[in-house]
Amino acid sequence: MNASFPHSAPVVIIGSGLAGLTAALSLAPMPVVLVTRAALGEETSSAWAQGGIAAALGEDDSPELHLADTLAAGDGLVDEKAARAILDQAPAAIGWLEAQGVQFDRKADGALELGLEAAHCRRRIVHGKGDASGATIIRALTERVAATPSISVLSDTQARRLVLRDGRVAGVALERAGEAYAIAARAVLLATGGLGGLFDATTNPQGNFGHGIALAARAGAVLADMEFVQFHPTALASDRTPLALISEAVRGEGAHLTNDLGDRFMADVSGQELAPRDIVARAISAEIAQGRKVFLDARPALGQHFSTRFPSIAALCREAGIEPESQPIPVRPAVHYHMGGVATDLCGRTSVEGLWAVGEVAATGLHGANRLASNSLLEASVMGRLAAEDIGGLAFAGSATLGSSRPSPRPSAASIRPLVSRSLGVLRDAESMKSLIAAVRPLADENSPAADPALVALAMASFALLRQESRGAHARTDFPAKAETGTRRRMTMQQILQFADELGETRLARSA
Ligand code: SIN
Repeated sequence: MNASFPHSAPVVIIGSGLAGLTAALSLAPMPVVLVTRAALGEETSSAWAQGGIAAALGEDDSPELHLADTLAAGDGLVDEKAARAILDQAPAAIGWLEAQGVQFDRKADGALELGLEAAHCRRRIVHGKGDASGATIIRALTERVAATPSISVLSDTQARRLVLRDGRVAGVALERAGEAYAIAARAVLLATGGLGGLFDATTNPQGNFGHGIALAARAGAVLADMEFVQFHPTALASDRTPLALISEAVRGEGAHLTNDLGDRFMADVSGQELAPRDIVARAISAEIAQGRKVFLDARPALGQHFSTRFPSIAALCREAGIEPESQPIPVRPAVHYHMGGVATDLCGRTSVEGLWAVGEVAATGLHGANRLASNSLLEASVMGRLAAEDIGGLAFAGSATLGSSRPSPRPSAASIRPLVSRSLGVLRDAESMKSLIAAVRPLADENSPAADPALVALAMASFALLRQESRGAHARTDFPAKAETGTRRRMTMQQILQFADELGETRLARSA
């Protein structure tokens, strides 16, 4: 074993986005090993977040109004108790982040500047350096982590499997530069982010294929809400991979959508450009499906002020040859956020003893069928602290060591991406989801780079096929209506594999 690798730790955190960094800092001075597949705070969606953190801080606002918007966006599937608990913590979360050195934008009178995003009835988005909210937060927290002696960072290191002993998580098997390592731990916390990397068109880091979901599922954890994938309506339409985001806050400042005929096609829709994300994404997709191009026109609302309010977005536009002060910005929907994941309670506990999950990898029930903008950084920071409180309150006795074995091949979603993109897009139907299940089911069992991405794709497709309705971000052409009552679904990997196998047998029997 490499000398720089610890053999054991009370707590191992996997992932260095907002959720992982918050948990690590909140656990101090308890020793924590923080495992991250790139450099600290890099290759994480948190650092790329433009909008900010939703918090009911305005004088005209209240947690009740924030809750009402969250429930409406979630389209009948938000767990109200979880939502209330998380949203109530928003002011404390902002205060904690500021205490860690995060500088949010403030007005001349010193009050926090609050932005507006879609489906929020009030200005409540706390942001940093205009549209560089995520980078501002992650920079401050990584500096704080580097200065915290109880946190050991293992960068360029990938978690490969959770190690189970007597039915509980006992540690984690890791790989760095082709070498295998293992760390015994009393608590493992997954903070690995989302799964946009399973799709061709995404605003997420490409390596985010749902890695934590695969780790948890293979350890027997219950998954929830896997079918709900949020498409951000306005990614910058370009050849760049991943696609750059044009924040909803730009629409919040009055920019409007037009097609190449000059038609402002959202004008008659309730909420117009600030309708919930799924509605705007479907409207844009419908335009594109008819062969039209779609643009976000910020000229009348922002004109020359664009680059002052949105400096990072202005730079991204210029990189693509667009001057947003004088030209409309070409946009298209792209996968941005996954509402589902590893089912947890309000302490971040999963169904497997010794395993916690926080942030996008987890499903607390806050987002329901469709996340309200900027509720995700809020959830990551609130749940990071709640999970740390829970873990910090446990008594840890002794520490074992684990043997390491040859690592499985490094995961790659490259061969899965085209299949998932075809079948689990903005509009879905049974036939295409069944073909996806048939294609990925055998791969999920292989010892190959595609295995973990295939397992996550299989879970998504199975949940999506079983939801025979259109709700929130899940839109089916063969079931366009919403069922009268909505229920959240939970399944383990075993149940998902069994469902896929039975489906395969039925297909075989039909074709015989
Ligand atoms: C955005 O800035 O539009 C993204 C905000 C979010 O996804 O929460």
